[in-house]
Amino acid sequence: MEVDTLLARLRGAADEVVGRHGGVVNELSDGEMVCLFGVPATHEDDGPRAVRAVLELRERARTLLRDGASLQIGVGAGLCVVQPARRGERRYAVAGAPLELASFLASHAGGGAVLLTPDAQRLAHPFFDTAPACPVSVPDRAEPMVPHRVVGASGHATRLEAAGELGLTAFSGRSAELAFLRAALERARGGRGQMVTVMGEAGVGKSRLLHEFVQRLESDVRVIRGRCPAQNNALPYHPFTEALRDTLDVGVTPAHALDAHAVAGRVMDLSPELEEFLPLYLHLLGISSEHHSIPPHLRGGTLRPAIREALSAAFTLAASVAPVALVLEDWHWADAASHEALLQIAEVALECALLVSVSYRPGHEVVWPEATAHATLRLGPLDVTASIAVIASVLGADALSDEFAAAIHEPAATRSSSRSSATPCRSRVCSAWGTGASSPGDRWTTSTFPARSKA
Ligand SMILES: Nc1ncnc2c1ncn2[C@@H]1O[C@H](COP(=O)(O)OP(=O)(O)OP(=O)(O)O)[C@@H](O)[C@H]1O
Ligand SMILES: [Mg+2]
Repeated sequence: MEVDTLLARLRGAADEVVGRHGGVVNELSDGEMVCLFGVPATHEDDGPRAVRAVLELRERARTLLRDGASLQIGVGAGLCVVQPARRGERRYAVAGAPLELASFLASHAGGGAVLLTPDAQRLAHPFFDTAPACPVSVPDRAEPMVPHRVVGASGHATRLEAAGELGLTAFSGRSAELAFLRAALERARGGRGQMVTVMGEAGVGKSRLLHEFVQRLESDVRVIRGRCPAQNNALPYHPFTEALRDTLDVGVTPAHALDAHAVAGRVMDLSPELEEFLPLYLHLLGISSEHHSIPPHLRGGTLRPAIREALSAAFTLAASVAPVALVLEDWHWADAASHEALLQIAEVALECALLVSVSYRPGHEVVWPEATAHATLRLGPLDVTASIAVIASVLGADALSDEFAAAIHEPAATRSSSRSSATPCRSRVCSAWGTGASSPGDRWTTSTFPARSKA
């Protein structure tokens, strides 16, 4: 096959894969490709997005490229100067060390490896397992750099989950909030379904609070979890698909490995009343089944209301077997279909032993239907005593001096003013992920990015 045809196919695959993960293919020429993440808009998980995308692209390229040729991939992370390109095929003119380092690593990544700079590795952690590769001498740098080779996905869905393996910081404060959630659960246990939204800024402790709440639950309470992914192109109903997997106990087994009959059996075990919804559950889980295909009258506009009803039925019937705590996280990223389903669940939950707790960041408030038992927990920063207890436990100290404590517990007012002063810079200097790829072979091998020709 002609090199031009191969390149065109690779470009098509890259546009699709990288675009789906929220990045852009900035250029592809002479066997060199530059992909950017965090441009023009940043996401807090641009690091893992970039690594997910290049791993997928590497697999696609394996089937596209001939003679066992593969991509050589380098990923860098950090601040770059980016501006829309006025000429040529590039979408952005980009300059910065992360891009140059990504390019440099691509040229050192043999045999289809993905190499990360130390900065990129820090951001991709803990979602990917990595191993240190051989140190490389970077031009104009005194010290050699130790890149990290991507070994594979770690299987951790959140940073908190990954941190749990190493041991979380000692939990401190939040006793009123825990008591509040506990009281809501008791009301739900008595058959008055409750909705509690836990709202607060990123990192303030929403997930940790819900984690601690769940840890303290009695064993007869069934915990069902769902999380909204940060990817803006996630499939509809993602949090409820996760929650449904939890409800049916099918874990994270990929859809293609799930047996339709076995899953149907689990649905019937939960309640024979759910039989009519079987095709919808299988559809949500991505399992194809001729026997349980979606009936024609539920295709098109009637599918969404039918899915809402099926989800409401699953969680309310689960709550008829045992009290259920449905924990839905990161609702600020929820898709519209999931949000509609949540509101319907809130309406039907009123007479069930169901507590629905939903965490989200400010700016994405949920307006609940009137006929729901709903309350909002607004989380602010930990108070001085609780913050100091956390710091002391991290440092392994029994106590901290007053001066040290005062210096560390910076007043919230100071923090917010320094944060906002950083904002204007972002319009001129964007954070970017540089991903370089080149392919071995006579006509393909090159070691640098076109973006390096910073004319
Ligand atoms: N009360 C607490 N005591 C000790 N550590 C805490 C407490 N609250 C939060 N943390 C720690 O702070 C970090 C961030 O907390 P968490 O992940 O719960 O934030 P979040 O509000 O869920 O953020 P995001 O909106 O990004 O999901 C975690 O490592 C967590 O263990
Ligand atoms: Mg969280």
